[in-house]
Amino acid sequence: MPDTLTITRPDDWHLHFRDGAMLAETVPATARVFRRAIVMPNLTPPVTTVARAGEYRQRILAAVPAGVEFEPLMVLYLTDQTPVEEIARAAASPFVHAFKLYPAGATTNSDSGVTNPARILHLYEAMEKYDVPLLVHGEVTEPEIDIFDRERVFIDRYLNDIRERFPALRIVFEHVTTGEAVDFVREAGQLTAATVTPQHLLMNRNDLLVGGVRPHNYCLPVLKRRTHQQAIQKAVLEGHPAFFLGTDSAPHARDQKEAACGCAGCYSARAALPLYASFLDRFGALDKLQGFASEFGAAFYRLPANPDTITLLRQPWQVPQRLSAAGEELVPFMAGEQLPWALAV
Ligand code: NCD
Ligand code: ZN
Repeated sequence: MPDTLTITRPDDWHLHFRDGAMLAETVPATARVFRRAIVMPNLTPPVTTVARAGEYRQRILAAVPAGVEFEPLMVLYLTDQTPVEEIARAAASPFVHAFKLYPAGATTNSDSGVTNPARILHLYEAMEKYDVPLLVHGEVTEPEIDIFDRERVFIDRYLNDIRERFPALRIVFEHVTTGEAVDFVREAGQLTAATVTPQHLLMNRNDLLVGGVRPHNYCLPVLKRRTHQQAIQKAVLEGHPAFFLGTDSAPHARDQKEAACGCAGCYSARAALPLYASFLDRFGALDKLQGFASEFGAAFYRLPANPDTITLLRQPWQVPQRLSAAGEELVPFMAGEQLPWALAV
Protein backbone atom coordinates (compact mmCIF):
# COMPACT_ATOMS: atom_id res chain seq x y z
CA MET A 1 0.00 0.00 0.00
CA PRO A 2 1.47 3.35 -0.99
CA ASP A 3 2.09 5.82 1.81
CA THR A 4 2.02 8.87 -0.37
CA LEU A 5 -0.26 9.75 -3.22
CA THR A 6 0.51 12.50 -5.70
CA ILE A 7 -2.21 13.62 -8.08
CA THR A 8 -2.74 16.50 -10.47
CA ARG A 9 -3.87 19.48 -8.38
CA PRO A 10 -7.66 19.13 -8.01
CA ASP A 11 -10.51 21.60 -8.53
CA ASP A 12 -13.68 22.02 -6.49
CA TRP A 13 -16.68 22.07 -8.82
CA HIS A 14 -19.20 23.28 -6.18
CA LEU A 15 -18.20 25.72 -3.45
CA HIS A 16 -19.63 28.52 -1.26
CA PHE A 17 -17.09 31.20 -0.34
CA ARG A 18 -19.63 33.68 1.12
CA ASP A 19 -18.41 37.30 1.15
CA GLY A 20 -16.86 40.06 3.27
CA ALA A 21 -14.80 39.06 6.31
CA MET A 22 -15.59 35.35 5.79
CA LEU A 23 -13.39 35.36 2.67
CA ALA A 24 -10.31 35.57 4.90
CA GLU A 25 -11.13 32.03 6.10
CA THR A 26 -12.77 30.39 3.10
CA VAL A 27 -10.50 31.55 0.27
CA PRO A 28 -7.15 30.45 1.77
CA ALA A 29 -8.69 27.17 3.00
CA THR A 30 -9.74 26.25 -0.54
CA ALA A 31 -6.92 27.87 -2.50
CA ARG A 32 -4.21 25.96 -0.60
CA VAL A 33 -5.71 22.69 -1.91
CA PHE A 34 -7.66 23.40 -5.07
CA ARG A 35 -6.46 25.34 -8.09
CA ARG A 36 -9.93 26.39 -9.27
CA ALA A 37 -13.43 26.37 -7.83
CA ILE A 38 -16.92 26.86 -9.17
CA VAL A 39 -18.10 29.67 -6.90
CA MET A 40 -21.77 29.45 -5.99
CA PRO A 41 -23.67 32.75 -6.33
CA ASN A 42 -26.13 32.51 -3.40
CA LEU A 43 -25.03 35.69 -1.65
CA THR A 44 -27.45 38.31 -0.37
CA PRO A 45 -28.13 39.91 -2.79
CA PRO A 46 -27.39 37.07 -5.22
CA VAL A 47 -24.79 37.29 -7.98
CA THR A 48 -27.16 37.74 -10.92
CA THR A 49 -25.07 39.66 -13.45
CA VAL A 50 -21.65 39.48 -15.09
CA ALA A 51 -20.89 42.87 -13.55
CA ARG A 52 -21.60 41.65 -10.00
CA ALA A 53 -19.68 38.44 -10.62
CA GLY A 54 -16.68 40.51 -11.73
CA GLU A 55 -16.74 42.53 -8.50
CA TYR A 56 -17.17 39.42 -6.36
CA ARG A 57 -14.29 37.75 -8.21
CA GLN A 58 -12.00 40.67 -7.33
CA ARG A 59 -12.92 40.37 -3.63
CA ILE A 60 -12.10 36.65 -3.78
CA LEU A 61 -8.77 37.23 -5.55
CA ALA A 62 -7.82 39.82 -2.93
CA ALA A 63 -8.09 37.08 -0.28
CA VAL A 64 -5.84 34.54 -2.08
CA PRO A 65 -2.61 34.11 -0.06
CA ALA A 66 0.60 35.43 -1.63
CA GLY A 67 2.34 32.84 -3.78
CA VAL A 68 -0.78 30.69 -4.21
CA GLU A 69 -2.27 30.22 -7.69
CA PHE A 70 -6.05 30.17 -7.62
CA GLU A 71 -8.75 30.92 -10.17
CA PRO A 72 -12.36 31.46 -9.09
CA LEU A 73 -14.81 30.24 -11.74
CA MET A 74 -17.84 32.47 -11.40
CA VAL A 75 -21.48 31.43 -11.69
CA LEU A 76 -24.59 33.57 -12.20
CA TYR A 77 -27.80 33.03 -10.21
CA LEU A 78 -30.93 32.58 -12.30
CA THR A 79 -34.09 34.41 -11.30
CA ASP A 80 -37.55 34.79 -12.85
CA GLN A 81 -36.29 38.12 -14.20
CA THR A 82 -32.96 37.08 -15.71
CA PRO A 83 -32.85 38.81 -19.11
CA VAL A 84 -31.94 36.52 -21.98
CA GLU A 85 -29.17 38.99 -22.90
CA GLU A 86 -27.37 38.07 -19.66
CA ILE A 87 -26.70 34.62 -21.12
CA ALA A 88 -24.88 36.17 -24.10
CA ARG A 89 -22.94 38.47 -21.77
CA ALA A 90 -21.95 35.49 -19.60
CA ALA A 91 -20.83 33.52 -22.65
CA ALA A 92 -18.64 36.43 -23.72
CA SER A 93 -17.11 36.83 -20.26
CA PRO A 94 -13.76 35.16 -19.62
CA PHE A 95 -14.59 34.49 -15.96
CA VAL A 96 -18.24 33.37 -15.91
CA HIS A 97 -18.52 29.61 -16.42
CA ALA A 98 -22.14 28.65 -15.70
CA PHE A 99 -25.62 29.58 -14.50
CA LYS A 100 -27.16 28.11 -11.34
CA LEU A 101 -30.81 27.19 -11.06
CA TYR A 102 -32.08 27.42 -7.49
CA PRO A 103 -35.77 26.63 -7.21
CA ALA A 104 -37.08 29.46 -4.98
CA GLY A 105 -37.00 28.37 -1.35
CA ALA A 106 -34.99 25.17 -1.93
CA THR A 107 -31.95 26.05 0.18
CA THR A 108 -29.81 28.76 1.83
CA ASN A 109 -30.32 32.15 0.11
CA SER A 110 -32.58 30.81 -2.62
CA ASP A 111 -35.49 33.19 -2.03
CA SER A 112 -34.76 35.07 -5.25
CA GLY A 113 -34.54 31.81 -7.19
CA VAL A 114 -36.78 30.54 -9.95
CA THR A 115 -40.43 30.06 -8.94
CA ASN A 116 -41.17 27.60 -11.76
CA PRO A 117 -38.26 25.88 -13.53
CA ALA A 118 -40.58 25.05 -16.45
CA ARG A 119 -41.16 28.76 -17.17
CA ILE A 120 -37.61 29.76 -18.11
CA LEU A 121 -37.26 27.63 -21.23
CA HIS A 122 -36.04 30.68 -23.17
CA LEU A 123 -33.07 30.89 -20.80
CA TYR A 124 -32.16 27.20 -21.18
CA GLU A 125 -32.44 27.68 -24.92
CA ALA A 126 -29.97 30.57 -24.81
CA MET A 127 -27.57 28.56 -22.58
CA GLU A 128 -27.72 25.73 -25.08
CA LYS A 129 -27.08 28.12 -27.97
CA TYR A 130 -24.15 29.86 -26.27
CA ASP A 131 -22.88 26.61 -24.71
CA VAL A 132 -22.95 27.81 -21.10
CA PRO A 133 -23.54 25.00 -18.58
CA LEU A 134 -26.68 24.89 -16.42
CA LEU A 135 -26.01 23.88 -12.82
CA VAL A 136 -29.07 22.55 -11.06
CA HIS A 137 -30.11 22.39 -7.42
CA GLY A 138 -32.48 19.52 -8.18
CA GLU A 139 -35.22 19.70 -5.57
CA VAL A 140 -38.86 20.71 -5.80
CA THR A 141 -40.09 23.08 -3.13
CA GLU A 142 -43.83 22.35 -2.98
CA PRO A 143 -44.65 22.07 0.73
CA GLU A 144 -46.73 18.93 0.25
CA ILE A 145 -43.76 16.96 -1.17
CA ASP A 146 -41.84 15.00 1.45
CA ILE A 147 -38.31 16.35 1.91
CA PHE A 148 -36.81 12.91 1.20
CA ASP A 149 -38.64 12.77 -2.17
CA ARG A 150 -37.83 16.27 -3.41
CA GLU A 151 -34.89 15.30 -5.60
CA ARG A 152 -36.69 12.38 -7.27
CA VAL A 153 -39.79 14.50 -7.94
CA PHE A 154 -37.62 17.27 -9.44
CA ILE A 155 -36.28 14.80 -12.00
CA ASP A 156 -39.77 13.61 -12.93
CA ARG A 157 -41.35 17.04 -12.97
CA TYR A 158 -38.62 19.15 -14.59
CA LEU A 159 -35.26 17.62 -15.35
CA ASN A 160 -36.31 14.86 -17.75
CA ASP A 161 -38.11 17.46 -19.82
CA ILE A 162 -35.24 19.98 -19.78
CA ARG A 163 -32.77 17.24 -20.75
CA GLU A 164 -34.98 16.16 -23.67
CA ARG A 165 -35.82 19.61 -25.00
CA PHE A 166 -32.25 20.91 -24.97
CA PRO A 167 -30.08 17.96 -26.00
CA ALA A 168 -26.94 20.08 -26.54
CA LEU A 169 -27.17 21.87 -23.16
CA ARG A 170 -24.49 20.88 -20.64
CA ILE A 171 -26.16 20.15 -17.29
CA VAL A 172 -24.56 19.51 -13.90
CA PHE A 173 -26.87 17.84 -11.39
CA GLU A 174 -25.34 19.37 -8.25
CA HIS A 175 -24.74 17.39 -5.05
CA VAL A 176 -26.61 14.23 -6.05
CA THR A 177 -28.20 12.43 -3.10
CA THR A 178 -30.39 9.65 -4.52
CA GLY A 179 -30.16 6.52 -6.61
CA GLU A 180 -32.66 8.14 -8.98
CA ALA A 181 -30.31 11.10 -9.55
CA VAL A 182 -27.36 8.76 -10.11
CA ASP A 183 -29.39 6.74 -12.63
CA PHE A 184 -30.53 9.92 -14.37
CA VAL A 185 -26.93 11.05 -14.82
CA ARG A 186 -25.77 7.59 -15.93
CA GLU A 187 -28.46 7.46 -18.61
CA ALA A 188 -28.44 11.07 -19.78
CA GLY A 189 -25.36 10.96 -22.01
CA GLN A 190 -22.08 12.84 -22.10
CA LEU A 191 -23.46 16.35 -21.63
CA THR A 192 -24.84 15.56 -18.17
CA ALA A 193 -22.68 15.28 -15.07
CA ALA A 194 -22.98 15.39 -11.28
CA THR A 195 -21.03 16.74 -8.36
CA VAL A 196 -20.56 14.50 -5.31
CA THR A 197 -20.05 15.97 -1.83
CA PRO A 198 -18.10 14.35 1.02
CA GLN A 199 -21.22 14.24 3.17
CA HIS A 200 -23.36 12.40 0.62
CA LEU A 201 -20.55 9.93 -0.07
CA LEU A 202 -19.68 9.24 3.58
CA MET A 203 -23.02 9.57 5.33
CA ASN A 204 -26.67 8.65 5.25
CA ARG A 205 -29.63 9.89 7.25
CA ASN A 206 -28.71 7.75 10.25
CA ASP A 207 -25.73 10.05 10.66
CA LEU A 208 -28.17 12.93 10.94
CA LEU A 209 -30.77 11.43 13.24
CA VAL A 210 -29.65 8.34 15.20
CA GLY A 211 -28.78 9.02 18.83
CA GLY A 212 -29.89 12.64 18.60
CA VAL A 213 -30.09 15.35 15.96
CA ARG A 214 -26.64 16.17 14.55
CA PRO A 215 -26.95 19.67 13.18
CA HIS A 216 -23.44 19.71 11.70
CA ASN A 217 -24.46 16.90 9.34
CA TYR A 218 -27.51 18.84 8.16
CA CYS A 219 -27.21 20.00 4.59
CA LEU A 220 -29.47 20.29 1.59
CA PRO A 221 -30.44 18.19 -0.20
CA VAL A 222 -30.84 16.32 3.09
CA LEU A 223 -28.92 13.05 3.61
CA LYS A 224 -30.90 10.06 2.31
CA ARG A 225 -31.16 6.39 3.24
CA ARG A 226 -28.18 4.05 2.96
CA THR A 227 -29.21 2.49 -0.36
CA HIS A 228 -29.02 5.93 -1.99
CA GLN A 229 -25.62 6.55 -0.43
CA GLN A 230 -24.47 3.24 -1.88
CA ALA A 231 -25.61 4.22 -5.38
CA ILE A 232 -23.46 7.37 -5.17
CA GLN A 233 -20.51 5.39 -3.78
CA LYS A 234 -20.76 2.87 -6.62
CA ALA A 235 -20.58 5.55 -9.31
CA VAL A 236 -17.47 7.09 -7.72
CA LEU A 237 -15.79 3.74 -7.01
CA GLU A 238 -16.14 2.62 -10.59
CA GLY A 239 -14.54 5.88 -11.76
CA HIS A 240 -17.52 6.96 -13.83
CA PRO A 241 -16.39 10.17 -15.57
CA ALA A 242 -19.75 11.92 -15.14
CA PHE A 243 -19.31 12.05 -11.35
CA PHE A 244 -16.76 14.50 -10.01
CA LEU A 245 -15.66 16.35 -6.90
CA GLY A 246 -17.81 19.22 -5.60
CA THR A 247 -17.45 19.78 -1.87
CA ASP A 248 -20.46 22.07 -1.41
CA SER A 249 -18.38 23.44 1.46
CA ALA A 250 -20.71 26.05 2.98
CA PRO A 251 -19.85 27.72 6.30
CA HIS A 252 -22.49 28.74 8.82
CA ALA A 253 -21.65 30.08 12.29
CA ARG A 254 -21.89 27.51 15.10
CA ASP A 255 -24.83 29.26 16.75
CA GLN A 256 -26.72 29.25 13.43
CA LYS A 257 -26.24 25.49 13.10
CA GLU A 258 -26.88 24.57 16.75
CA ALA A 259 -30.23 26.31 16.87
CA ALA A 260 -33.95 25.65 17.07
CA CYS A 261 -34.07 26.24 13.32
CA GLY A 262 -30.57 25.32 12.19
CA CYS A 263 -28.98 26.33 8.89
CA ALA A 264 -28.18 23.81 6.15
CA GLY A 265 -24.57 23.43 5.04
CA CYS A 266 -21.34 21.61 5.97
CA TYR A 267 -17.98 23.40 6.02
CA SER A 268 -15.51 20.91 4.57
CA ALA A 269 -12.97 22.96 2.61
CA ARG A 270 -9.84 21.84 4.48
CA ALA A 271 -10.84 18.25 5.15
CA ALA A 272 -12.53 17.46 1.84
CA LEU A 273 -9.59 15.99 -0.08
CA PRO A 274 -8.41 13.79 2.84
CA LEU A 275 -12.04 12.71 3.32
CA TYR A 276 -12.45 11.64 -0.31
CA ALA A 277 -9.04 9.90 -0.25
CA SER A 278 -9.88 8.08 2.99
CA PHE A 279 -13.18 6.91 1.52
CA LEU A 280 -11.56 5.58 -1.67
CA ASP A 281 -8.76 3.91 0.29
CA ARG A 282 -11.30 2.11 2.48
CA PHE A 283 -12.65 0.48 -0.68
CA GLY A 284 -9.21 -0.16 -2.23
CA ALA A 285 -9.87 2.44 -4.91
CA LEU A 286 -7.30 5.17 -4.29
CA ASP A 287 -6.45 5.01 -7.98
CA LYS A 288 -9.83 6.64 -8.65
CA LEU A 289 -8.95 9.89 -6.85
CA GLN A 290 -7.06 11.39 -9.80
CA GLY A 291 -10.00 11.16 -12.23
CA PHE A 292 -12.65 12.17 -9.69
CA ALA A 293 -10.74 15.11 -8.20
CA SER A 294 -8.54 16.33 -11.03
CA GLU A 295 -9.73 15.20 -14.47
CA PHE A 296 -13.44 14.61 -15.01
CA GLY A 297 -14.67 18.05 -13.94
CA ALA A 298 -12.14 19.96 -16.00
CA ALA A 299 -13.00 17.84 -19.04
CA PHE A 300 -16.72 18.53 -18.58
CA TYR A 301 -16.13 22.29 -18.23
CA ARG A 302 -13.72 22.12 -21.19
CA LEU A 303 -10.82 23.53 -19.21
CA PRO A 304 -7.23 22.28 -19.26
CA ALA A 305 -5.92 20.02 -16.52
CA ASN A 306 -3.93 21.86 -13.86
CA PRO A 307 -0.16 22.00 -14.42
CA ASP A 308 0.91 21.21 -10.86
CA THR A 309 0.32 18.43 -8.32
CA ILE A 310 -0.65 17.88 -4.70
CA THR A 311 0.54 15.14 -2.37
CA LEU A 312 -1.39 13.26 0.30
CA LEU A 313 0.27 11.22 3.05
CA ARG A 314 -1.00 8.15 4.81
CA GLN A 315 -0.67 9.80 8.18
CA PRO A 316 -3.34 10.29 10.85
CA TRP A 317 -4.84 13.76 10.80
CA GLN A 318 -7.49 15.14 13.08
CA VAL A 319 -10.08 17.50 11.66
CA PRO A 320 -10.07 20.64 13.87
CA GLN A 321 -12.84 20.82 16.49
CA ARG A 322 -13.41 24.50 15.89
CA LEU A 323 -12.36 27.29 13.59
CA SER A 324 -12.92 30.97 13.97
CA ALA A 325 -13.81 33.20 11.07
CA ALA A 326 -15.33 36.63 10.65
CA GLY A 327 -15.67 36.90 14.43
CA GLU A 328 -17.74 33.71 14.55
CA GLU A 329 -17.08 30.16 15.64
CA LEU A 330 -17.31 27.47 12.94
CA VAL A 331 -17.58 23.73 13.50
CA PRO A 332 -16.11 22.07 10.43
CA PHE A 333 -17.62 18.97 8.86
CA MET A 334 -16.39 15.83 10.73
CA ALA A 335 -14.93 18.00 13.50
CA GLY A 336 -12.58 16.06 15.76
CA GLU A 337 -12.56 12.94 13.54
CA GLN A 338 -9.26 11.21 12.93
CA LEU A 339 -8.63 10.56 9.22
CA PRO A 340 -6.03 8.13 7.85
CA TRP A 341 -4.91 10.55 5.10
CA ALA A 342 -3.54 14.07 5.40
CA LEU A 343 -2.36 16.76 3.01
CA ALA A 344 1.40 17.11 2.76
CA VAL A 345 2.16 20.80 3.27
C1 NCD B 1 -25.68 25.59 0.87
C2 NCD B 1 -25.37 26.94 1.54
O1 NCD B 1 -25.32 27.00 2.78
O2 NCD B 1 -25.15 27.93 0.83
N1 NCD B 1 -26.24 24.70 1.86
C3 NCD B 1 -26.32 23.36 1.79
O3 NCD B 1 -26.93 22.74 2.66
N2 NCD B 1 -25.76 22.70 0.81
C4 NCD B 1 -26.57 25.81 -0.29
C5 NCD B 1 -26.75 24.62 -1.19
O4 NCD B 1 -25.83 24.22 -1.91
O5 NCD B 1 -27.85 24.05 -1.21
ZN1 ZN C 1 -24.11 24.32 -2.54
